[in-house]
Amino acid sequence: MTLILGIESSCDETAAAVVADGRFVRSSIVASQHELHRKYGGVVPEIASRAHLERIGPVVDEALKTAGVELDAISAVAIGHRPGLIGSLLVGLAAAKALAWSTGKPLIGVDHVHAHLHAAALVDGGCDDDRRSADIAMPALGLVVSGGHTSLYELRSITDIRLLGHTIDDAVGEAYDKAAVILAAGYPGGPAIDKLAQRGDPTAHDLPRAALRRESLDFSFSGLKTALLYAVQGRPQRSKAKPRASETVFERSGEDLTESQRADFAASFQAAAVDALILKIERALGALAAEDRSVQSLIIGGGVSANSLLRCRAAELGETHSVSVHLAALPYCVDNAAMIAGLGCELLQLGRCADLDLSAVTSASI
Ligand code: KG4
Ligand code: ZN
Repeated sequence: MTLILGIESSCDETAAAVVADGRFVRSSIVASQHELHRKYGGVVPEIASRAHLERIGPVVDEALKTAGVELDAISAVAIGHRPGLIGSLLVGLAAAKALAWSTGKPLIGVDHVHAHLHAAALVDGGCDDDRRSADIAMPALGLVVSGGHTSLYELRSITDIRLLGHTIDDAVGEAYDKAAVILAAGYPGGPAIDKLAQRGDPTAHDLPRAALRRESLDFSFSGLKTALLYAVQGRPQRSKAKPRASETVFERSGEDLTESQRADFAASFQAAAVDALILKIERALGALAAEDRSVQSLIIGGGVSANSLLRCRAAELGETHSVSVHLAALPYCVDNAAMIAGLGCELLQLGRCADLDLSAVTSASI
């Protein structure tokens, strides 16, 4: 059995996990920093890296303890070293290097975005033969939807990944977070809008679904965000009281909305955001089929894959397009270290280990 210790600190979650044979999660500890960033309405990088520093040691200890394993029993240490906030990445990377060096175990550098796709293969607990055989059929189409990324991939295997398209402006999770600010729905924004949308009418407001060029597999969410802002607050105007002031003044405030109006806006936003994702998945399935590269599976990961409407629509799409749909289990949608350990195991098997001079990289590899 191969046991990997995974470490993740790319943004605002300090996480460590122990995963057996790439898929079977023995422990997954996530120390979230939402409380620290809530009052700023977004992640403050300096606060994030300081909090990682305080938490990384106890979180790793907790992951080993919960899994019931000593450091000696670990086969390798995997670290999400790209992409992310530089200060945050450096804390996890330094911890992973120290553990690998002091135990003489291999160090494995893992791309955080690719790991979000592997999250769909993770299962809790032990590995019996039934579960072992339930692999995701390849080739596959992969979609990563998170606070920092909205990307479509063609996968021949979980370690052989080609980028097909990505967002040209905001990530879909970022749009959710901004929508939550406009609607004063709470922080973090995605789950708050998802919850509010349950009580609203998705047809109440006609918000844009960016299709881009006819064959484009890229995404765009900034137009949707701005359309919601204008629908809620009216057009921006020059302040009559302070005509020279640079701050933008709107006709109305989001705070004037009734609860049912807020729910209608949330539901209409969610319908438009999810429609835009489904449109590109269908377009990609069609484009790959036309080139004789049909896929057998659709994999969706990243924080927004926890979204109730996206999960529903993806399952329907699986039926209509005859692909098997694999969504990360809810605890593995948002940032976690089990996905890092899992993909780290696949890379270890291919001999793709890193040296102790592995760098933290702020941008995605593809
Ligand atoms: O993957 P993740 O934890 O971090 C990044 O790698 O960015 O994703 C966080 C994002 C946030 O934007 C959050 O608002 C969004 O995922 N999110 C959701 C839901 N749960 C989390 N968005 C929509 N619906 C949800 N249920
Ligand atoms: Zn992430």
